[in-house]
Amino acid sequence: MSSESAPQPLRARAAPAPLSGRLRVPGDKSISHRALMFGALAIGTTEIQGLLEGEDVLRTAAAMRLLGATVDRLGDGAWRVAGRGIGGLTEPADVLDMGNSGTAARLICGLLAGHPLFAVMTGDASLRRRPMKRVTDPLAATGARFLTREGGRLPLAVDGARNPLPLDYRLPVASAQVKSACLLAGLCAPGVTRVVEPEATRDHSENMLRHFGATVRVAAEGHGRVIELDGQPELRAAPVQVPGDPSSAAFFAVAALIVPGSRLVVENVGLNPLRTGLFETLREMGAALTVANARTEGGEPVGDLVLRQGELRAVDVPATRAPSMIDEYPILAVAAAHARGASRFRGLGELRVKESDRLSGTAALLEAAGVKVEVEGDDMIVHGTGGPAPGGGLVATQMDHRLAMSALVLGLATRAPMTIDDGGFIATSFPDFVGLMNRAAGGAAIEAA
Ligand code: S3P
Repeated sequence: MSSESAPQPLRARAAPAPLSGRLRVPGDKSISHRALMFGALAIGTTEIQGLLEGEDVLRTAAAMRLLGATVDRLGDGAWRVAGRGIGGLTEPADVLDMGNSGTAARLICGLLAGHPLFAVMTGDASLRRRPMKRVTDPLAATGARFLTREGGRLPLAVDGARNPLPLDYRLPVASAQVKSACLLAGLCAPGVTRVVEPEATRDHSENMLRHFGATVRVAAEGHGRVIELDGQPELRAAPVQVPGDPSSAAFFAVAALIVPGSRLVVENVGLNPLRTGLFETLREMGAALTVANARTEGGEPVGDLVLRQGELRAVDVPATRAPSMIDEYPILAVAAAHARGASRFRGLGELRVKESDRLSGTAALLEAAGVKVEVEGDDMIVHGTGGPAPGGGLVATQMDHRLAMSALVLGLATRAPMTIDDGGFIATSFPDFVGLMNRAAGGAAIEAA
């Protein structure tokens, strides 16, 4: 896996041609993890199409196998999961290694809390730095016992609840991972599990739970939501069609907006409104970004993004929008670097606990390209150049796939090439990113450095 292999430095230089044509990005990471997990908890066989075959999701597939589910790959993105039923997971005979994936680690903690089994979980150096108390604290109320390293870090051990209790939890931070961990534990408990979120976060768990036959009630409360799940439902296997990942499409969208002369269509992108904050923001910046062929597939809105390069202007992004674009700030910063004027992104505290400290990592990325950035508390201010940025720098990607891809996209439109120290982690979410980008750009814009 990338965490153990030698670093793979990459360099991006000005795209040889405008980005053009039509392409598809791989399946949504959030939905892919959930399809495997809910499939493992359902009665019957779940057929999945369009599963993301990135390292993060493969970690979830391996974990579901260790917990007793039968998980088979039938072909490109086509997978089958024979579930064990709720409460039916079995004790894993080995450590669950979640690699680089915070989503896999946190959601599976929820699943383990509700099962009477002992398990040990670890991850790579990035994941072992990330906070797990945000899930182990609420999940302890089920009756499960967690032992963690200092500061609530992995590796952790869990002794799952024999008779899990339902949860009633108000999230202190807007986090779909914490919400989903609570709902997964709540599946195993009798009665109603209730989660209140301060801001609405991605609702793929709620959508997929309903799709598999659970009863979930959602009510608005302020900016946020109250979610109630009836415990111990019988989840029935159901086919899942995974749409293209908007967080992966984001790199192509911004590349097409900043590489001169580009016109690009990214087909079949998931457009769940709780994921599309970046596209809304890019439009506010004046981007020519429209949606064609809007439709609903597998309970999720989907469409084709139609993009045309043009001038961008600075934008002020409110903190309330952060949950709907939480993974997109590094690539938004790349767009803002090309815009005219100073952009401000507000309320980015959560970026400090992603695969890396993405707040300082994004600032360092832009600085390496000669773009002025300031961090004021939890806000980031990007002083746009109004055209191609100088470039020429080396970016430390810090085991973070999104910093790596953002730096490479920036390098497609800077005056001098941009280099990253390690592109290996791109494989966690987007294994063919470089090949797909080079095809869209009409040549080898990104190469080994
Ligand atoms: C995810 C939720 C987000 C996001 C992550 C995927 C999910 O994390 O950053 O990449 O699938 O639930 P938080 O909910 O912790 O913000």
